[in-house]
Amino acid sequence: MDSLEEVALAVHNCFDCPLHRGRNSAVPGEGNPDAQLMFIGEGPGYHEDRQGRPFVGPAGQLLEGLLASIGTNRDEVFIANMVKCRPPDNRDPEPAEIAACKKYLERQIELVNPKLIVTLGRFSLGRFFPGESVTRARGKARQKDGRIIFPVLHPAAALRRPELRKTLVEDFRAIAALLENGNDGENGNDGATLTPQPATIPAEPPAPQLDIFNPPEAPTPKPPAAPPTEPTESEPATSGNPPPEPPGSPTPSTPERPDGPQQLSLL
Ligand code: URA
Ligand code: SF4
Repeated sequence: MDSLEEVALAVHNCFDCPLHRGRNSAVPGEGNPDAQLMFIGEGPGYHEDRQGRPFVGPAGQLLEGLLASIGTNRDEVFIANMVKCRPPDNRDPEPAEIAACKKYLERQIELVNPKLIVTLGRFSLGRFFPGESVTRARGKARQKDGRIIFPVLHPAAALRRPELRKTLVEDFRAIAALLENGNDGENGNDGATLTPQPATIPAEPPAPQLDIFNPPEAPTPKPPAAPPTEPTESEPATSGNPPPEPPGSPTPSTPERPDGPQQLSLL
């Protein structure tokens, strides 16, 4: 498999585990082949299986909102799963299925060569740190094989338990910071394009500088600090619905930012 296209072709023609029987379409994964940031989920659900694309159902909508909250989107990153075919009734993938499917994910990681891998939920956490609890591991960046691994909760968990959304939002802020700061991996696409671009940032008072590991409960402006970060009003946590941000919608609490959400210019 010399390219991501070849990986995808092999996945679509794969019969190496019982999951092939129930699939409508395999879901190889997709995104920017040169992404610095790669997300690894668990496996396709109903909508993914229908469309052959990862994270296109409700969990995907939440993921897209989280990506938007840090100034990026699904075309800039690469999104893959531990298993490429939908487990029946969305049951957990079995160890033998994960093992059979591993070769595809491994090759995707090699080919994309991301600087930062974000694991979504416990199965992809297990790929890097077997046996660890996602509740304990989440939000802590660690080096593994020359890359930065950053575990977070699975978005579907935050859909089931809305009180977890805040944690996910905070962890995504940390992702943005890691991409901007961490250039210490030996592998991985370089962060050259990560330099914040002042031209995209309004000249108004800078947004509060967030301490990503101790984010404030409420937006409390502090003295100027650069680079400015995303206004908290754009957080998906403030909405019951998955979040794409309506650029033209009224944002009464941020009249000084009429142009909508600030771009972190991650990519
Ligand atoms: N959940 C996952 O883990 N992966 C998907 O692609 C969709 C939902
Ligand atoms: Fe092949 Fe992976 Fe699908 Fe199993 S889940 S049939 S190993 S592509």
